[in-house]
Amino acid sequence: MHPIKHEIQKAERAGYAIGAFNSINLEWMQAILRAGEATGQPVILQTSVPPVAYMGGLGLVKSLYDHLLEALEISVPVALHLDHGDAETVRQAIAVGYDSVMFDGSHLPMAENLRLSAELIELAQAHDVLIECEVGSIGGSEDNIYGKGEIASLADAKAMADLGPDYLAVGIGNIHGRYPEDWPGLDFDQLKILKQGLGDLPLVLHGASGIPDDQIKQAIKQGISKVNVNTECHLAFSTAMIDYVHEFESHKEDYLNKKYYEGRHFLSAGYQAVEDKVKERIELFSRI
Ligand code: 13P
Ligand code: ZN
Ligand code: NA
Repeated sequence: MHPIKHEIQKAERAGYAIGAFNSINLEWMQAILRAGEATGQPVILQTSVPPVAYMGGLGLVKSLYDHLLEALEISVPVALHLDHGDAETVRQAIAVGYDSVMFDGSHLPMAENLRLSAELIELAQAHDVLIECEVGSIGGSEDNIYGKGEIASLADAKAMADLGPDYLAVGIGNIHGRYPEDWPGLDFDQLKILKQGLGDLPLVLHGASGIPDDQIKQAIKQGISKVNVNTECHLAFSTAMIDYVHEFESHKEDYLNKKYYEGRHFLSAGYQAVEDKVKERIELFSRI
């Protein structure tokens, strides 16, 4: 059994959650792994499909990940997870050795989502890979994933749970990316119904960026065991790099003399901001 399976089950029993953070490049991969190590908490490094293409493919991401675990001497339990995979990418991620995959069939008719989920759960289990499926849908759009934000019904959730996924993403009013001003908040009544009906199956909260901390904590208390974060890391990354550019402009002669125009100086500013953000979120999710 992969160590992260044990960690997810432990979190579900004890009532805290493991953070899962999306990555787009080498700097973010390092930032996420280092943040896990620095906090002493398990962490999931995840990649959704367009960033995988941007980074050079699943195989390249997997080898970078393996090298980083050694180079950074990572000792906390960590996993490499495919986020919002289509069926074909899920099959490929399993083949290249990802530890965990998500099959997102939320845009399909439920019967089709169940049929493909069943097939992929069987494949994942045969390879000792964890698998996350989804019921209801996450609102908004991100990385070519579009959702209407349907609230998951207990009937659909039970039908999916019966297939035996390791964790289940549920639509409970959560949205990818930023939240509108008039967002009514998470549907805690439905989360309660789902958790009561599903027992110890770990549930996943997508779209965590922009949800107030008290609602995130409440959701974790009510049975969320994995929390997905992406947009907040992008905002931290871009804000830090924009600040760097402003500093550059206002001390131009000095920065040019010090060769601060070299790309790694720009990226380092963003890299550090992502690491700080991931640490802060891990602290929130793990201390409920
Ligand atoms: P946010 O971008 O809203 O944090 O959502 C992340 C997510 O759900 C990744 O799967
Ligand atoms: Zn998501
Ligand atoms: Na969000």
